[in-house]
Amino acid sequence: PTGVYKYYLNGQWLESASGKSVSIINPSTRQTCYEVQACTQDEVNRMFDAAKAAQKAWARTPLWKRAEYLHKVAALMREHAQPIADCLVKEVAKPAKDSLTEVVRSADLLDYTAEEGVRFLGEGQLLNSDSFPGQQRNKMCLVSKVPLGVVLAIPPFNYPVNLAVSKLGPALMAGNAVVLKPPTQGAVAGIHMLQCFHAAGLPAGLLSLATGRGSEIGDFLTQHPGVNCISFTGGDTGIAISKKAGMVPLQMELGGKDVCIVAADADLAAAAKHIVKGGFSYSGQRCTAVKLVCVVDSVADELVAAVAKGVAALKVGMPEDDADITPVVSESSANFIEGLVMDAKEKGATFVTGEYRREGNLLWPVLLDHVTPGMRLAWEEPFGPVLPIMRVASTDEAVAHCNASKYGLQGCVFTRDINAAIAISDAMETGTVQVNSAPARGPDHFPFQGFRDSGIGSQGIRNSLAMMVKTKSTVINLD
Ligand code: G3H
Repeated sequence: PTGVYKYYLNGQWLESASGKSVSIINPSTRQTCYEVQACTQDEVNRMFDAAKAAQKAWARTPLWKRAEYLHKVAALMREHAQPIADCLVKEVAKPAKDSLTEVVRSADLLDYTAEEGVRFLGEGQLLNSDSFPGQQRNKMCLVSKVPLGVVLAIPPFNYPVNLAVSKLGPALMAGNAVVLKPPTQGAVAGIHMLQCFHAAGLPAGLLSLATGRGSEIGDFLTQHPGVNCISFTGGDTGIAISKKAGMVPLQMELGGKDVCIVAADADLAAAAKHIVKGGFSYSGQRCTAVKLVCVVDSVADELVAAVAKGVAALKVGMPEDDADITPVVSESSANFIEGLVMDAKEKGATFVTGEYRREGNLLWPVLLDHVTPGMRLAWEEPFGPVLPIMRVASTDEAVAHCNASKYGLQGCVFTRDINAAIAISDAMETGTVQVNSAPARGPDHFPFQGFRDSGIGSQGIRNSLAMMVKTKSTVINLD
């Protein structure tokens, strides 16, 4: 497609008064593939005005009807899955099959949100006063869940569709309006996705989409007085947002440095298989990617050999050809990853997969052994196809390393001993611990939350619905 993609306000696709656009660079070709509007602050103001007005009526729209809308959007997303997926391939170099999976997964998420929403949001509580000491049975408290108002949704480049829908779905189902700021890389996939909401006939103003430069509208959006909740997924920017945000609920998922602990009694072949998938899917550009393997010395040689075999089998190439390893999202990202690898090299890490190789944004997968706590790769997340291995004397040492990290998203442990697995899970200070599999957010109804700098609030369909409402009580006082 040519031309500049329009932004969305009051049920209409519009050109910005700025007359300016933002280019989206295809990570594979490093050429501009799309352009989107550079929205102005005034246009953002209008989005919040429209959202506030539309939300009032939406909050009174019956739950079953809100659910019906979401089911309709889900059906439209399935119908138009391919064009949306094609944008993901171009904008974020996600392999073709995974791009399609992301769209279908998002449609499933919307259907589930609608089903969960009618039940969860439809249930309240009734409390009688006489359960508290000294009280008579003369007060009844009716507790219900009411919407927050306007939710600002900011998804990241690595899941521009799924992590948009995982915010939009629960927010709308719970009776909120939404202003969506898609990531620049992924904005056009977001625009196509939003078109499904538009085509489903959602009331005008309820949903807006702002594209533009962070420097112009970034802080303006996150500090806007019209925001009643921020749902953000991304990097350290989230910490800056949380420091500046007003008194609004925050649902944030930031970085991760997910540690994979391999105990001496682990099924090493299975562990290696999960580590390769967990470390290198979408070229490691997942917050839940395995970002450090801590393997107990006695089985380290065997594990490293098995992982190396898996890494050697990965296909490196272009997303259109469904390669396993595709170009990372930007040149600056590739440079950052390279910096981490070079730091480890200088400090004595061993390249298990041969020489380091890079062409443009395409990085060949790197497996580094003998990584030590003095290397940046022991602590920082590359968000690329790089997997460091640290040899440890015991699983206790691995747990201590995991807990010393500023991140605490997920972690995993491979062992055949269920008692050891539970003890290690209890000891790991992360939002989720996977036993005998790699970290992952899905299935999307599972709770998902990060500890420490990895986030605030919880996700997963039910938890997101719960995040998007506040408690309202009506007390009936009887004579
Ligand atoms: O990148 C962050 C995502 O929340 C991870 O989702 O585990 O489905 O790849 P995923």
